[in-house]
Amino acid sequence: MIKTKYLDSIVSRETYNKLNKYSDFLIEYNKKINLISKSSEELIMSRHIEDSAQIMRFIDKNDKKILDIGSGAGFPGIVMELVKKDLGFEFKLELVEKSIRKCTYLQELCDYLKIDVVIHNDDVRKIKKNDFSTLVSRAFKPLDIFLEILEEGGINFEKILLLKGENHKKEMEQALKHWVINCDQHESITKPGSKVFVINSVQRI
Ligand SMILES: C[S@@+](CC[C@H](N)C(=O)[O-])C[C@H]1O[C@@H](n2cnc3c(N)ncnc32)[C@H](O)[C@@H]1O
Repeated sequence: MIKTKYLDSIVSRETYNKLNKYSDFLIEYNKKINLISKSSEELIMSRHIEDSAQIMRFIDKNDKKILDIGSGAGFPGIVMELVKKDLGFEFKLELVEKSIRKCTYLQELCDYLKIDVVIHNDDVRKIKKNDFSTLVSRAFKPLDIFLEILEEGGINFEKILLLKGENHKKEMEQALKHWVINCDQHESITKPGSKVFVINSVQRI
């Protein structure tokens, strides 16, 4: 079993086992469809799973219903679902992913892990549901485009949590040309130079 420091500090042995099952399932499925880069398979625990889990630092009891946008291989949503019990959360999680093949994978993964997660196979603009307290997303779209997509889809939120890579500064600068954004930026604990954006409100200029 591969262990990492942060995960070790927040999850039980049982949850660790489930995260390992997730990792094994994903690596096997990655032979069939492209879910993560082959080069990141070896580092899956730190690069993908721990990176996703750190978003839990910004979840609180008011986060009742969470939507993961562009889930792909299941990051961060599936990780959040697996670790939530250890951290005392009871939120409901839904995923939206436009690729049919990835949704088939996500459903098989949920069945395998015996977790109950709603999966929408759709473009997020068409989701026609608007009762999410919190939106989360990782490696989906640049911030400016992301906010435009939410606007087009008429998707409301109380909070948005985004895992952002090294381009975060440029992305924010670009987005600030079109939006007033109330955002706290936190250092990633897994990748120096990366950030977690906690967005509390946005308004188009
Ligand atoms: C680069 S992947 C990131 C996947 C995952 N979040 C991760 O961190 O590995 C982006 C995913 O968003 C999905 N996607 C792109 N546009 C979308 C849209 N408009 N609505 C829903 N899903 C979309 C793609 O099919 C893809 O699986």
